[in-house]
Amino acid sequence: MSMPRLDSDDEVEQLPPDIAKKARALLMSLVRPHLGMIIFLAVIVVLTAVLMVIGPVFIADALDNGVPAAIDGDTGPLIRAVTFFVVSAVASAILAFTSTRLVGITAQKILFTLRERVFTHVQRLDLGYHEKSTSGRLVSRQTSDMESVQQFLSYSLFETALAVLQMLFIAVTLVVLDVPLAIVVFAGFVPLFFITKAAHSTQRSAYRRTRTSIAKVIVHFVETMGGIRAVQAYRRQPERRGTLSDQDARYRDANTDALRGVAWFAGWTRLIGNITQTVIIVIGAWLVIEGWTQIGVLAAFILYLRRFYGPLDELVQAFNLYQSASAALEKIAAVLDTDPEVVEPTQPHVLPAHASNDAAANGRALDLDNVRFAYADGHDVLPRFDLNIPAGQIVALVGATGAGKSTLVKLVTRFYDPSEGRITLDEVDLRDLDDAQLRSSVVMVTQESFLFAGTIADNIRIGNPGASDDDVVAAATAVGLDAYIRRLPEGYATDVKKRGGRLSSGQRQLVSFARVFLADPDVVVLDEATAHLDIPSERLVQNALATVLEGRTAIIIAHRLSTVEIADRVLVMESGRIIEDGTPDELISGTGKFAQLHQAWRDSLV
Ligand SMILES: Nc1ncnc2c1ncn2[C@@H]1O[C@H](COP(=O)(O)OP(=O)(O)OP(=O)(O)O)[C@@H](O)[C@H]1O
Ligand SMILES: [Mg+2]
Repeated sequence: MSMPRLDSDDEVEQLPPDIAKKARALLMSLVRPHLGMIIFLAVIVVLTAVLMVIGPVFIADALDNGVPAAIDGDTGPLIRAVTFFVVSAVASAILAFTSTRLVGITAQKILFTLRERVFTHVQRLDLGYHEKSTSGRLVSRQTSDMESVQQFLSYSLFETALAVLQMLFIAVTLVVLDVPLAIVVFAGFVPLFFITKAAHSTQRSAYRRTRTSIAKVIVHFVETMGGIRAVQAYRRQPERRGTLSDQDARYRDANTDALRGVAWFAGWTRLIGNITQTVIIVIGAWLVIEGWTQIGVLAAFILYLRRFYGPLDELVQAFNLYQSASAALEKIAAVLDTDPEVVEPTQPHVLPAHASNDAAANGRALDLDNVRFAYADGHDVLPRFDLNIPAGQIVALVGATGAGKSTLVKLVTRFYDPSEGRITLDEVDLRDLDDAQLRSSVVMVTQESFLFAGTIADNIRIGNPGASDDDVVAAATAVGLDAYIRRLPEGYATDVKKRGGRLSSGQRQLVSFARVFLADPDVVVLDEATAHLDIPSERLVQNALATVLEGRTAIIIAHRLSTVEIADRVLVMESGRIIEDGTPDELISGTGKFAQLHQAWRDSLV
């Protein structure tokens, strides 16, 4: 495992220039399947707002018409007004339940689709993308950015629409009820407008900072945990903790700033609301005394005022969440906008059928013609490469570190495409094979022999998900793992990540060989682990390897003498070129690089 890269401030993400448009398009594509539901919710919003606004009208009616009539002995109008009020209150409760429930369901459906889309897309992206982007950044896309979009969709969007409509309806009602008092209420909006404007830009930048800083916290956390062995081995904990707490502090400060804006705004709206209310009471009382307005209208005004100013701080919060969610959605859209560089052909070719049914003669010829390759950011790692490997040949690849061995096998497995030239399998260009055929024909056994959470059987079955239990056992037996697995507490059902199921590095390799055995590919590519195994384990691994490679074409990056011995042919690489090519015996008896290397190996064994 490579030492985790230190994340730095200058490692900013490049968002495409038209990202806002792309984020909108993404949102539209997510929302479109739920259009019917959204229209239905819009109707509910309007109804809810009407009901909320209408309540005080009934109260005004009760006070101004109902009570005087009741005093005169007619209780009808009062009962009617109260009944209307109760009915509207109950209806409003039902609507509140329905809308909250439906908004929740719809928002979660949208989020589910988005999460799936991101995951599927990220898995499809080529190795080149994953080798240059930190996994922490993808984690933050999938967690904190999703969370932010979710908050807005499930809690804010509906509330915002409701608040705006409600204020609009109230404004209209106020004008209808009493124009002079309405003007007093609207006057309170002038200072609020300026406060909102002032708050807006600081709020936006504060919330942007929260998005960026939380992403950095997650990146740093993921990297530290991924590299925990290196961190502990070199006692980097204090330094890693220091960096994390700097980033945490930035996140804290950004949040604190954002919340300070909210607090100021809440204070101001409360103050202005209360002042307006006082003014309304004074002026309203005077108007009532003068007989220009009725007491019920004044009561309704006071009730409306609460509902008028109430949604304002909610609106500001919602606006902030909107800023945060749209920044998050832009980042998610940018991930979805990245296209894989290694793409499947639209018209795939099919590999010719094997000449014989003999399972032990399944290899295919592998040819590299005039291949040149450079990573996106660098010089040619392979300047000009030609290689013909006949079907069934086992090739050991040796060479100094950085010679380009791993790069070569990443090309052969089509994790990257050559910059020039072509690689063919039985004369078919790898770029013309669909993914299913390519991955079933060419299998790469990676150095880390990755184990997924699950049982040992599950982990072996990765090679061929359709394999029966018997096949799994046969594969484990072939690589010499069966006896060990049977001694485990739960045998093949032992969880590899739980206690008792932990595997040694040799055993992990055997598991990955068993996968290959089940997958039954034509070509096996192996980047051998450099870790030293003890001699008995090494023998076990070598025997397993010989079994697995039987009848297949293979390229093995060999770090052990014993591996070279099972090869038919040895290639020595230096600076992206082959400098020696021959059978192990030929090269050993020669005077070249391999003869020296071989001697050094021998010496290290005594
Ligand atoms: N993802 C990458 N992006 C850019 N350059 C890379 C990348 N991977 C490898 N390189 C560069 O390509 C060259 C060859 O690397 P490669 O991993 O193929 O060497 P190798 O022969 O496998 O070495 P080792 O024996 O140490 O594994 C090196 O100079 C390396 O820095
Ligand atoms: Mg390598």
